[in-house]
Amino acid sequence: MSCRVVVLISGRGSNMGVLIDAVREGRLEAELVRVISNRASAAGLERAADAEIDTAVINHRSFSERALFDQALTREIDDARPDLVVLAGFMRIFTAAFVEHFRGRMINIHPALLPRYPGLHTHERVLEAGDEVHGASAHFVTEEVDGGPVIVEAELSVTKDDTADKLNARVLRLEHHLLPSAVHWFANGRLELAANGVHLDGELLGERGVVFELQGETLTRMEGPASADLLV
Ligand code: GRF
Repeated sequence: MSCRVVVLISGRGSNMGVLIDAVREGRLEAELVRVISNRASAAGLERAADAEIDTAVINHRSFSERALFDQALTREIDDARPDLVVLAGFMRIFTAAFVEHFRGRMINIHPALLPRYPGLHTHERVLEAGDEVHGASAHFVTEEVDGGPVIVEAELSVTKDDTADKLNARVLRLEHHLLPSAVHWFANGRLELAANGVHLDGELLGERGVVFELQGETLTRMEGPASADLLV
């Protein structure tokens, strides 16, 4: 039976779109059963509806407390009976109860090399710090914002001409490889969050998960099991 996936978005939904395409083209064995946004205006909702995926909006502004929003969101997610919940640009911070409910079955994509630069404005912060490498990470979600165990990272070199916009575009391309790959591994029963960390194909991953480096146009694996294949 294929893996049932609920995707949470807040905006454009390009990461979600990559998942939709991968499923439609038969590269990703998963079923996108529902897309939920906290904003009715999220452009990604239209894209999901066009792909005939069930959509829902739960507006965080309609709730007086974070816990009440999280409870409503939990009900909406659980109702779709997902095996996996994917945060694809979902811009809300969760309560501990929410995170605990989905522990080991909720992953997030983040535009930085975690544990460096959790939170917002990662590209600006990388430029300010003068870092020479930057990238993206997919990780399991825990209480700490953008702090959960890393599944996979991809890094690229920052050049002298880089701006936040340029980095945003290049890092987003990395995200579009990492997120479907992590979903693919999970959907095939290859990825697991255990007490001692993330396991892929039976191997305990290091703190940065599987690490890829962008060399020219190619992502080359630097750390992690040789079986760790990117879904492209
Ligand atoms: C991505 O950069 C993601 O990492 C961040 O928000 C952005 C969402 O982009 N958290 P999209 O909605 O998937 O196009």
